[in-house]
Amino acid sequence: MTGEPGGSGFSRRQLLLGGAAAAGAASVLGGQAIGGALAGAAVAPGAATTASVAHSAAARETAVGEAVVPFHGARQAGIETPPQAHARFIALDLVPEVDAAAIRRMLRVLSDDAARITQGRAPLADTEPELALMPARLTVTFGFGPGLVERAGGTAPAWLRPLPAFGIDRLRPEFGGGDLLVHLGADDPVSVAHAARMLLKDSRSFASVRWSQQGFRRAAGAEASGSTMRNLFGQLDGTVNPAPGTADFDELVWHTGDPDWLAGGTSMVLRRIAMDLDGWDRVDRPGREASVGRKLGSGAPLTGEREHDEPDFAALTPVGFPVIGDFSHLRRSRGEVPGERIFRRGYNYDESPADGEVSDAGLLFASYQADIDRQFVPIQRRLDELDLLNEWTTPIGSAVFAIPPGCAEGGYVGETLV
Ligand code: HEM
Repeated sequence: MTGEPGGSGFSRRQLLLGGAAAAGAASVLGGQAIGGALAGAAVAPGAATTASVAHSAAARETAVGEAVVPFHGARQAGIETPPQAHARFIALDLVPEVDAAAIRRMLRVLSDDAARITQGRAPLADTEPELALMPARLTVTFGFGPGLVERAGGTAPAWLRPLPAFGIDRLRPEFGGGDLLVHLGADDPVSVAHAARMLLKDSRSFASVRWSQQGFRRAAGAEASGSTMRNLFGQLDGTVNPAPGTADFDELVWHTGDPDWLAGGTSMVLRRIAMDLDGWDRVDRPGREASVGRKLGSGAPLTGEREHDEPDFAALTPVGFPVIGDFSHLRRSRGEVPGERIFRRGYNYDESPADGEVSDAGLLFASYQADIDRQFVPIQRRLDELDLLNEWTTPIGSAVFAIPPGCAEGGYVGETLV
């Protein structure tokens, strides 16, 4: 069931990825970079025969599909992983009869499915195993809502509860809450769909789907890896963000201390934020740029030239107004308290418009932080009080999850809790 149909016994993925080292590379590089690097590595120097050239071209063409991100590890994949092009966030509610033992069984099964399918192997009882062979950097990240932690008999961190109500919120119940989060990401939408199908089939006797939200960024290979994403307002979104793999990131994102089952895990806030594209269309370019305090083209602060230039909040216009307005998203979202920062890893959404409308679009704003109360809430409070961007953005969904640590081979995600 897990072999490749019609395979020669030596798959192109094995040839290209050549084991754990390459799989590790896959976790830190974008698909495009992997394609280039690995296609080169697959051809021996001086062996540029027609066959090998053709092979390397084919390898380049399929490198996006065949790239793999390791599932096992101290931390779950899908957070530090460079964001894939497609994401689906699914929240499940446990059925009433599920107890701690059943939660354990469910997490074992789902972890086993995820461990296989992310590596391009069909999960047990996959009725469409061919769909599993092209993971395209598929990651599966599990999160726990307050209901699951309570039912498992564990201690919840203080922040694992619905966020406080904010004045700007217009929350809809169909995008909120949930006991178990399954967050899928891949550079190919078929990989996401198949993984969702497999995991939901196997969770059916334990839980039911509460909501499912789908998001996207640019296609893999459409722009240089490491580029900041553009949201549907056309803004570069994600410029100022802690960099995965740094001490700064580790301190801001990973949980330490109590409760200890969460050590090496983190928290996720998912806000569905509707963006009024028609209203935005009516604003001129200087007005749009003033609302954030950054230029639309380069993403540079209004006081700079390049995307990563440091903003100069003290700079004044010739008539004495701040160049970066007091009401701007940049000024309001940047805290003065050290450590009051978050890791943003959002996705665009674009759904069928309601009657009489031409768009239903926005941002699946996902943020990760060690402590929601200490890091996320103060930022959201400030934005709630004042942020020019609120003119065109409305939070319509909100959910909070504890993201447990990863697991080693043979283990399962959530083993530290149950
Ligand atoms: C649809 C809603 C939103 C849009 C369109 C948006 C857009 C942007 C843009 C264009 C930037 C500047 C570039 C960058 O550094 O990424 C930015 C920065 C930022 N945003 Fe948002 N944002 C939204 C919601 C939020 C929310 C809900 C929060 C947190 C509660 C938030 C927190 C931040 C932070 C912390 C920064 C970086 C500030 C800094 O430079 O230190 N944003 N956002």
